[in-house]
Amino acid sequence: MLIGKSPKIPTSEITSETTYLNRRKFIGQSAALIAGSGLLSSAQAGLQPDDEITPEDIVTQFNNFYEFGTDKSDPFENAHAMTTDPWTVNVSGEAKKTGDFAFEDIIKGMTAEERIYRFRCVEAWSMVVPWMGIPLKKILEQFEPTGNAKYVEFKTLVRPDEMPGQSSFFSSIDWPYTEGLRMDEAYNPLSIMVTGLFGKELPNQNGAPWRLMVPWKYGFKSVKSIVSIRFVEKEPLNTWQQLQASEYGFYANVNPAVSHPRWSQASERRLPSTLFNTNRRPTLPFNGYAEEVAHLYKGMDLKKFF
Ligand code: MTE
Repeated sequence: MLIGKSPKIPTSEITSETTYLNRRKFIGQSAALIAGSGLLSSAQAGLQPDDEITPEDIVTQFNNFYEFGTDKSDPFENAHAMTTDPWTVNVSGEAKKTGDFAFEDIIKGMTAEERIYRFRCVEAWSMVVPWMGIPLKKILEQFEPTGNAKYVEFKTLVRPDEMPGQSSFFSSIDWPYTEGLRMDEAYNPLSIMVTGLFGKELPNQNGAPWRLMVPWKYGFKSVKSIVSIRFVEKEPLNTWQQLQASEYGFYANVNPAVSHPRWSQASERRLPSTLFNTNRRPTLPFNGYAEEVAHLYKGMDLKKFF
């Protein structure tokens, strides 16, 4: 887990492939602009004036993708072996259009937009990441979910030949890695299906060819390398809840007031940082996105539905 202090990388290097010359300034201005602009609200919502884009080498080399191993460096070292073309996605359950679809056909005619999001892992580290993605609602609506679709479940690829973590003796995960959202969460404008990073194609270790991103929830909800989308009536059992229900729930909304049984969630380590408390900052309710999503949980006891 020791990340080491990385030298301060000039913003111009991190963002060389994007149009923004001074992101830090841009983020600060955007945060101030949010209230006044509907257009900016999804792309820059939740960003705080002191948020700075996390260096690309950290975003792409410090990962959780247990299919490739449990060390943070394992996905970067092993994920190149995953074949992502062709990529077929099975759509099933409570929808009018179901079956096997080629990934390219699903996203045909859609443009990925840049969304700079705060990203908070349940392990209490955080980043700020310039994702490229498509609104999840746009993707899901094309399958015409029926009135019985109350939740949507996502599953990751199972391919032990290419994913050493799936055949590891030490793995206690019942593959495939599974996650889910309530339909109204999935249709929230902040929810995206990510296809790129730093203006480039999504690297395998970050979940190529596409992965979920729901920035107000802990990172484990953002399931990677998705091959199955299922519309269901009942709440799906997500992988981490299945592993340890006393520690991980279905909702997983970022919440500084509800501690993990083994550590506090009141603050987080913003990467780059050493393991020992440098660059620590308070964690915000819903990871800073309360204005956009708190209404989804009105009347719910968030200590119970954690
Ligand atoms: N998706 C799959 N299939 N397997 C995983 O192990 N880890 C989750 C999530 N999605 C995971 C996954 C966790 S715990 C986190 S914090 C994020 O991916 C990490 O995303 P990143 O590596 O792009 O930062």
